[in-house]
Amino acid sequence: KNEKLWGGRFEKSLEHWVEEFGASITFDQKMAEFDIKGSIAHAKMLGQTGIIDLAESETLVKGLEELLTEYHDGKLVFNVTNEDIHMNMEVLLTQKVGAVAGKLHTARSRNDQVATDMHLYLKYHLSVVNQKLKNLREVLVTLANDHVETIMPGYTHLQHAQPISLGHYFMAYYSMFTRDSDRFTFNMIHTDISPLGAAALAGTTFPINRELTADLMAFSDIYTNSLDAVSDRDFILEFLSNASILMMHMSRMCEELILWCSNECQYISLSDTFSTGSSIMPQKKNPDMAELIRGKTGRVYGNLMSLLTIMKSLPLSYNKDLQEDKEGMFDTVETISVSIDILAGMLETMTINKEKMLYSTEKDFSNATELADYLASKGVPFRQAHEIVGSLVLECTTAGCYLQDVPLTRYKELSPLIEDNIYDVLQSQTAVKRRNSLGGTGFEQVKHQISLAKSTLSSE
Ligand code: ARG
Repeated sequence: KNEKLWGGRFEKSLEHWVEEFGASITFDQKMAEFDIKGSIAHAKMLGQTGIIDLAESETLVKGLEELLTEYHDGKLVFNVTNEDIHMNMEVLLTQKVGAVAGKLHTARSRNDQVATDMHLYLKYHLSVVNQKLKNLREVLVTLANDHVETIMPGYTHLQHAQPISLGHYFMAYYSMFTRDSDRFTFNMIHTDISPLGAAALAGTTFPINRELTADLMAFSDIYTNSLDAVSDRDFILEFLSNASILMMHMSRMCEELILWCSNECQYISLSDTFSTGSSIMPQKKNPDMAELIRGKTGRVYGNLMSLLTIMKSLPLSYNKDLQEDKEGMFDTVETISVSIDILAGMLETMTINKEKMLYSTEKDFSNATELADYLASKGVPFRQAHEIVGSLVLECTTAGCYLQDVPLTRYKELSPLIEDNIYDVLQSQTAVKRRNSLGGTGFEQVKHQISLAKSTLSSE
């Protein structure tokens, strides 16, 4: 005899280690709250449609509500023998209300139940993630606002390219995180759909009311095809791929923070509250948290690849392989949620060394484009201007000086068009300020981006 809820057609039981291999309760209990809420909606619907007696429906709902309270109080005990969260809950409900608990699973399968739980779980967490992202975006806008006129070296190929506003840098990440948030919002469309009522795969002969359960669970939409409803994991794949892109953005930023607090740059120093020391080297202050976000990015990518691979070649509809969809989703929700908070905290508390940033734009040739543009604006073909400045850079490199150190007499030899206002043009501050083309790093442009961002944030 087999004591499982599904044990009727079996003569023997699973050995415990086999049972353990098949069970998901160790991880799917993270959906406990959503499982109960889905069951409450289903029980109410069974009563209202007359599929079961109203009194029975009320008993089920009351029992489930008590389970919810006990769950929140940490009093529910789950076990591997009951396999997963769905059957553990049914057993607990039976202990509470007796045999009537056996009516709860009328017109329902674990296949539509588990899909419902996952939709509810992700729907909740998508909005939490977007709240956290909003906070990060606000932190970036505040920093940008404080640093419109802070000058830093802008890089290409990790070589000094042209000076930029630090505010402009922060707003670049604001834009990336805004797109990330938009992607999660879009992800919500495919998550906010009720699979409940698809039953095992084909629907049911009972006169269920799917609109009612969808309403009770606050879903905006209902799957139109029962096979699709129990087989679809696109909404999770979308989430994992959106999360991967988000982690990629955070990882790029962290990489820069790590470089910036190196001895070579010294552009920033991270707060003690977000740094760690070394067990052997007393002087060390390490950017561990930034490194961890960079590292965890690999782990989130792995979760995406894992589910893509699990889903590949799966025939319709439910297959037990699908049980492997959960841990990567939970892990990704937890990883991105804490990473967003850590990044925001690190940014808010770091100290920015403006002088060092500015200084490093003055001990380089990142004003070479200014000189070339200066000549071009006076009618010299840009290509020729580029050539003149290029050879002057070479000359300076040999002489050990910078463009702003070249005397006016030498400039006049290179081109009589050059006047003494060139020294102002060559200053980093001026270079940044004058890049006033739409979307450029000019102070006015950065302020414009900030005001757009502020109105976007206040409308969310
Ligand atoms: N624990 C299972 C899962 O996570 C629930 C669905 C089980 N359905 C089934 N037909 N065995 O996928």
